[in-house]
Amino acid sequence: MKFSILTIFPDLIYNYCQDSILGRAQSKELISVEAHNFRDFSINKHHTVDDKPFGGGAGMVLQVEPIYRCLENIGLVKNGKKIKESKTKIIIMDPDGKKFDQTMAKQFSKLDNLVIISGRYEGFDERVYKFVDDRVSVGDYVLAGGELPAMIITEAVARLLPGVLGNFESLKEETFENDIVEYPQYTRPENFMGLKVPKILLSGDHKKIGDWRKDQSR
Ligand SMILES: C[S@@+](CC[C@H](N)C(=O)[O-])C[C@H]1O[C@@H](n2cnc3c(N)ncnc32)[C@H](O)[C@@H]1O
Repeated sequence: MKFSILTIFPDLIYNYCQDSILGRAQSKELISVEAHNFRDFSINKHHTVDDKPFGGGAGMVLQVEPIYRCLENIGLVKNGKKIKESKTKIIIMDPDGKKFDQTMAKQFSKLDNLVIISGRYEGFDERVYKFVDDRVSVGDYVLAGGELPAMIITEAVARLLPGVLGNFESLKEETFENDIVEYPQYTRPENFMGLKVPKILLSGDHKKIGDWRKDQSR
């Protein structure tokens, strides 16, 4: 699966993605992550991508043109229209968007290409939204940019893909699966400063352990 991230800070994306699960998934060619700097598509000689809002007001607004031209360069828009691809989705990071959750992550994991546009400053010229499928928020708070939200979504989606996690089985019992949360887990030592592992987990009785875990999850 390919993740294409439009940003003016591509290094934030590449630095995060080079290690851990996302780094390994790229080495194994299970995913690819491409950061596209829409500043490269600015139409002015200073390479600016933002301007003052019409009608006045605080801050700067991201212009539609560099983002459109960047999408055009990667073959996603043409003649002012989105090019429909059934297994491609273009989402835009927006605190006012649909709240990202595990169900959305699962839907995205079925795609071939997830395109994520990340904003900065006061956000986007409203016309940018004409070229996207969905506005997505990672929560009810405002960050300085869309790169962290883009990484949250990339990681949550990538780890659902076969082969990305060392143990695919672990996905089955995770929080948000079957509308329950994961049961409490413990590892060595059995006793840490008087904080003891529940006896049942040391009993070796797999039936009882299974029942205890189900109960805890509920
Ligand atoms: C400073 S924010 C803009 C906030 C905007 N003026 C508003 O009031 O909604 C800059 C960019 O960061 C990203 N961003 C900030 N918070 C976000 C969130 N909770 N979820 C998704 N993206 C977010 C968006 O891409 C946004 O355009």
